[in-house]
Amino acid sequence: MKDFVLAPTLHDLDPESIDLVRHAERALPTAHAPYSEFQVGAALLLDNGVIVTGANQENAAYPSGMCAERVALFALASQYPGHAIKKLAVVAQHKTGTELTPATCCGGCRQVMLEFEYRQGKPFEVVMLTEERRWVKAPSAQSLLPFCFTSSTLRAAKIN
Ligand code: THU
Repeated sequence: MKDFVLAPTLHDLDPESIDLVRHAERALPTAHAPYSEFQVGAALLLDNGVIVTGANQENAAYPSGMCAERVALFALASQYPGHAIKKLAVVAQHKTGTELTPATCCGGCRQVMLEFEYRQGKPFEVVMLTEERRWVKAPSAQSLLPFCFTSSTLRAAKIN
């Protein structure tokens, strides 16, 4: 947990993180989550100051849906190619809820975040609300995925 910031309230985080969480919250109404009723909003801060948001998009054929983080990441890749991510924030709220509910990125999203981190050659921070209702700021995508599988795993197989 070295280099992880744990904050009891959102206001104990840095202003940039607080602002990004607010953007993720504003993306919540764009979720399409009629099946789980679990709305997720994600926001990415880019190196040029632009903020890209996304929300989960579910489908009647369940596996065809997509998580909020990946909706935002893939939008960034198509709309701002070449721009690095500084920070990602993710929040969730039940459809009928009035306040945020804990949600930390799923494993699939962590894997996709790691690919983006490798591509840009530098880490980005990840802000989310833990089950204990503490805000966590992770230093990188890689810190959320120990013993991970990356392109270097594939390269290593070629030379052996
Ligand atoms: N979900 C996300 O958007 N991000 C995550 O990291 C975890 C789960 C969405 C997928 C699905 O629409 C809903 O939350 C319930 O799993």
